[in-house]
Amino acid sequence: MLNKRKYFINLAILLLLGCTSSGRLASENKDREALKEKTMLSSPDTERKVDSVLALMTIDEKVGQLVQYNGKWDATGSKSSKRYKYKIEKLKKGEVGSMLNIISVTSIRETQRLVMEHSRLKIPLIFGYDVIHGYQTMFPVPLGESASWDLEIIEQSAAIAAKEASASGLNWTFAPMLDISRDARWGRIMEGAGEDTYLSTQIGVARVNGFQGNNLSDINTIAACAKHFAGYGFGEAGRDYNTVQVGEYELHNIILPPFKAAANAGVATFMNAFNDIDGVPATGHKILQRDLLKGKWNWEGFVVSDWGSIGEMQAHGYATDKKHASEIAIKAGSDMDMESYAYEASLKPLVEEGKVSIALIDDAVRRVLRVKFQLGLFDDPYKYCDEKREATEVYSTEHLEIARDVAKKSIVLLKNEKDILPLSKDLKSIAVIGPLADDKDSPLGNWRAQAKYNSAVSLLEGIKAAVSDNITVYYEKGVDLTVPTVTPGENQFLFPLEFNTTDRSGIPKAVEAAKKAEIVLLAIGEDAYQSGEGRSQTDIGFKGLQMELLEAIQKVNKNIVIILMNGRPMDLSRPSELVPSILECWHLGSQSGHAIADVVFGDYNPSGKLPVSFPHNVGQEPLYYNRKNTGRPSSKGNVAFSSYRDAPNTAFYPFGYGLSYTTFTYNNLNLDKTEITVNGSLEVSVDITNSGNVDGEEVVQLYIRDLVGSITRPIKELKGFKKLKLKAGETQTVKFTIDSETLQFYTANKKWEVEPGQFNIFVGGSSETELQDTFVVIK
Ligand code: NOJ
Repeated sequence: MLNKRKYFINLAILLLLGCTSSGRLASENKDREALKEKTMLSSPDTERKVDSVLALMTIDEKVGQLVQYNGKWDATGSKSSKRYKYKIEKLKKGEVGSMLNIISVTSIRETQRLVMEHSRLKIPLIFGYDVIHGYQTMFPVPLGESASWDLEIIEQSAAIAAKEASASGLNWTFAPMLDISRDARWGRIMEGAGEDTYLSTQIGVARVNGFQGNNLSDINTIAACAKHFAGYGFGEAGRDYNTVQVGEYELHNIILPPFKAAANAGVATFMNAFNDIDGVPATGHKILQRDLLKGKWNWEGFVVSDWGSIGEMQAHGYATDKKHASEIAIKAGSDMDMESYAYEASLKPLVEEGKVSIALIDDAVRRVLRVKFQLGLFDDPYKYCDEKREATEVYSTEHLEIARDVAKKSIVLLKNEKDILPLSKDLKSIAVIGPLADDKDSPLGNWRAQAKYNSAVSLLEGIKAAVSDNITVYYEKGVDLTVPTVTPGENQFLFPLEFNTTDRSGIPKAVEAAKKAEIVLLAIGEDAYQSGEGRSQTDIGFKGLQMELLEAIQKVNKNIVIILMNGRPMDLSRPSELVPSILECWHLGSQSGHAIADVVFGDYNPSGKLPVSFPHNVGQEPLYYNRKNTGRPSSKGNVAFSSYRDAPNTAFYPFGYGLSYTTFTYNNLNLDKTEITVNGSLEVSVDITNSGNVDGEEVVQLYIRDLVGSITRPIKELKGFKKLKLKAGETQTVKFTIDSETLQFYTANKKWEVEPGQFNIFVGGSSETELQDTFVVIK
């Protein structure tokens, strides 16, 4: 079969040899040169092959390449269902370009075969899946992993996710999510890198590089997808899928840079978004997709719609029917239709009626084919289908070890009065209490791909494994976090959780355990499915009876460390009044319990920093450090200023904040120049000393403030960071370069440029650092 298919392709190539290639390699900029080296840009040879295949295709086959179906057969009905049979027929006719949610080498091979053995042109399918923070070996949820500020391990975890996914036959992940989010109410904040544009850009590129490696056709790599283009993280009031109102400058300065960087890094695909932006649904947004992404940015991959988002333009009140929606979407630059069943029925008639030009269809098909060629699927459609590889690569011991390393580096120490942490291994007794204390499932987090239900190392297991038999470990759950609404492990993605727990019967036992123990580790926070898609909340406190449990325990034992597990910033104001120590442990993945034990006992000195602000209360949301000053910056004592009467403007735990078991001091902030031109550069240096008694790591952060601009500018903006290892007593000098790339922004001229004027510069261990200096930019 394969030979016959190759024959077709080769014939087509021969026929069209000499045809003009797309000429996309003309651009000489250095990003593209680097991409060429990494073979992330299409070559003239690939372009010739793409054109040659395209020339053979009928309109039905072309439209088919733009169709993506869900392959979770059980979700769409049984194998005897009409929909199942319909999809099989379409696959056999070669009228499907991609499938999502098909799991395992066996199923992928079976599905690919339907195309290879029955269709006319035998154009291989590309198989996509949400591999968000691991395939079966789970890493921390992306927000948690971002707290490591460690680009190397972030790239490494994406590379392992790609290795496992590709070993299971997959070619494409719908990640990374590059949506900036400043709103803790939005459950999907767990899937991104937090509130800051610079940090999200760096992390986004690391994730793209991790998934894609240096070569998409490498057996261990998969195509990545920059999503959701654009603005999805800015849904009004933190409500998922809600309308987005952002101005042009906010869009360009805050939301788009991570996407631009991903495009420059050669991300193979983009996904658009469910939301509208200022009245235009992202899926039908021509300015964003066709003019900016494919035009100005000169990006050559393909755009997939979000699930059903083409059809949803009807509900938005932007399209009269699916045909109208298809016309808008294809013109706007949405290349592939994920599960709307709109393109398959509408594109051909739209072309026949002259409403959509065949050139637009060809452009979209060309983009899809290009990625398939780059993945090597035309050379061998079964290239990623190797059961032996699947059996050895997925969930390997080596991957689990790395997952533990990434997890411990993602933990943030938020509070540690009287140095209650790290615990001594000479303690006599510890009580491990709470609804999440022996939960082996929640640490896997939402968007957990093929993680096995209940497969994480629980906190209790981690603590027990770390201590000797001389320490008594008491365990009590105390209260339930949620009342299951479905059989655990089944369909939890789709069903809401019920927090209405009323059972207090475990509290007295928990209090007894707390009384007996020298120290309490209290695991509270959020269930795995409390954050993620469709999990918006108006209350970001502790659901159910968790606070009641904390208050009861605190009456008998003050030595409490809260082990916080969560996917979003939470309101920690009350708990932090009650306990001396809080360890932010997110949903840390497969090795959660071991990683937490590593930090609790000081085998690893915590080094994480918050990628997002934690508020005093939910009423402050959306909350972010790089806010505007306003015309009336807050002032104590006077009412007529931009402030709340019952809470400060600042965060409870700010962006960039995190403690260590040692302390760091910053000295000798020095700028080598105090004046530069718009194209000039200067060097900032600062000495950091580990002024405590143990070795540790510090994330040194650089912020700027542009004091006067052609549009109003934020009070601080992160522009650089470096993570350092410092031995106790050691001093290191860190240097940052400030140049036009650091200082430019999207100005009132609607261009990226540096504006002359005064700038403040801040360096320190959090966004609230006050160590500062100043310099001037002249023309
Ligand atoms: C909808 C989500 O918004 C998107 O991020 C995801 O990739 C698709 N569903 C496919 O599962």
